[in-house]
Amino acid sequence: MKTIGQDDFAFLARLLRRRSGLSLTPAKLDLVERRLAPVMRRFGFRDATALIRELRLGRETLATAVTEAVTVNETSFFRDPQIFAPFKTVLLPAMLKARARTRRLRIWSAACSTGQEAWSIAMILDGLGLAPQGWSIDLIATDLSHEAVSRAEEGRYDTLEMARGLSVDQRASWFRPSGEYWCVTEQLRRMVDFRVFNLLDSFGWLDDIDFVFCRNLLLYFDHASRQAVLERMAETLAPDGVLLLGDTETADVGTLHEVTGIDGVYARTRAPLARFA
Ligand SMILES: C[S@@+](CC[C@H](N)C(=O)[O-])C[C@H]1O[C@@H](n2cnc3c(N)ncnc32)[C@H](O)[C@@H]1O
Repeated sequence: MKTIGQDDFAFLARLLRRRSGLSLTPAKLDLVERRLAPVMRRFGFRDATALIRELRLGRETLATAVTEAVTVNETSFFRDPQIFAPFKTVLLPAMLKARARTRRLRIWSAACSTGQEAWSIAMILDGLGLAPQGWSIDLIATDLSHEAVSRAEEGRYDTLEMARGLSVDQRASWFRPSGEYWCVTEQLRRMVDFRVFNLLDSFGWLDDIDFVFCRNLLLYFDHASRQAVLERMAETLAPDGVLLLGDTETADVGTLHEVTGIDGVYARTRAPLARFA
């Protein structure tokens, strides 16, 4: 493949930053070229230079395809057990207690990729039998990528994906074999509302969220975009709501406070922290 020149790379980096928040450094050049290869084939470009020339003309479908191809979709079921374990044993029980009167829970998986994160949350909730006890649960899962969201909605995974994070018992309870694949059960499918959504856009349609999962995404953002998203996420949370990042990610904004003892977990106010102590 012809190597992308300096000017073209700078243009691409600006485009990706504007469209997704992704911060690209020249060290990522090889990776970017590899990721663009399928887009070049799909749109019939000879090389990356020809593709970027067309991008400069403002072709929207191409810009969307490039953005989706370059962003990282890596995910797995129950990824980062250091976060999922305390979510299940400490944070969720405390929140259920706090919501005992309304019996309403709102959870947002904000960069859900191909759905494994949202289905993992759904399995935990379903395992607790909350719906039969009269709980109303909104589990919203969003991602920038149309392709990832459509795969998430499909809820169909190959054996390799199934082997990453799922126990045999979990597979038997919430998945059914379908040829070489496994599909989520109807019961689980009904629990998640998947949508395409770019975190750089307004969160106006989301409010009063008890748990926001925004994991393993913001580390790819530049500082300004990360701060802006985190501040808006804090506003989206219920006053005692909790934000869960990846276990190596941090939120250094004044409106979010670290939940001591659990890396990557933040609350909107200091007040609810006693509940988790
Ligand atoms: C590395 S995956 C993380 C998936 C999952 N949260 C996890 O931890 O396993 C990051 C996801 O963020 C999505 N993404 C990238 N930029 C985004 C943006 N601006 N708005 C929403 N999603 C975005 C990508 O499409 C990708 O699916």
